[in-house]
Amino acid sequence: KATPRVRQLTASLVQHIHDFARENELTIDEWMAGLDLMNEAGRMSDDRRNESQLLSDILGLETLVDEITFKLAADAQDEPTSTAILGPFWRKDAPLKQMGDTIVSGIDEAGHRTWMHGIVTDFKTGEPIEGAVLDVWHTAPNGLYEQQDPDQPDMNLRGRFTTGKDGKYNFYCLKPVPYPIPYDGAGGRLLKALDRHPFRPAHIHFIITAPGYKPIVTQIFDSKSKYINDDSVFAVKDSLVVDFIPSQKDPKADFDLPYSFKLASY
Ligand code: DHB
Ligand code: FE
Repeated sequence: KATPRVRQLTASLVQHIHDFARENELTIDEWMAGLDLMNEAGRMSDDRRNESQLLSDILGLETLVDEITFKLAADAQDEPTSTAILGPFWRKDAPLKQMGDTIVSGIDEAGHRTWMHGIVTDFKTGEPIEGAVLDVWHTAPNGLYEQQDPDQPDMNLRGRFTTGKDGKYNFYCLKPVPYPIPYDGAGGRLLKALDRHPFRPAHIHFIITAPGYKPIVTQIFDSKSKYINDDSVFAVKDSLVVDFIPSQKDPKADFDLPYSFKLASY
């Protein structure tokens, strides 16, 4: 049964699509080409890839919805940590880890080894948050997520960490690299039709949840990465850009990466 919200969204969508067709004097062939792209996206999608999401991201829609949802003044001081899009490669049930563990279960590539650490706090009180779960995932130095790459062990470069009383977290990971979003399907066809490149700057994804706090979905970006000002899916925000600091102290890490997260309570 239609809810008022469904009626409102459908009426508005129809209005805007009709305007779009009228304003551009859309031809049958052009409309069919659009439907064909959507059908291709549907055919290519399964639990390892989400091609419709790629289309929405290439058109900036997921970033727009993210901004509408969180309405955060980018980079304002004393705001909760900014959010960023989920992207298509999160997996549920990433391995539960202890603080200080590594999320690397494939090759621990020298030159990329990173010690990431920080604290999860309440953005208003500054108090540490106990029981916050950081769900983290990123690409291997070959630019692939583990589910895209038969050579990586299952759940490589993914983990979930739960904070104690001090709100602190820390783990080993690898410094990610710039990475092309999947380019061999409907998303790639759309990018090519627009003469656009498929690359994203190097990034690490997080979902952070804590009892009594609003969950955040976000990413941090390597300041020195190529494409930092030209993300193919428009997700970079200044407050999420970080420095990987070359590290000499820790023989197990090439880089030190401090970053702290601030959550808003309900
Ligand atoms: C997209 C996002 C990612 O983080 C990624 O690794 C690939 C694609 C996307 O928004 O489509
Ligand atoms: Fe990603």
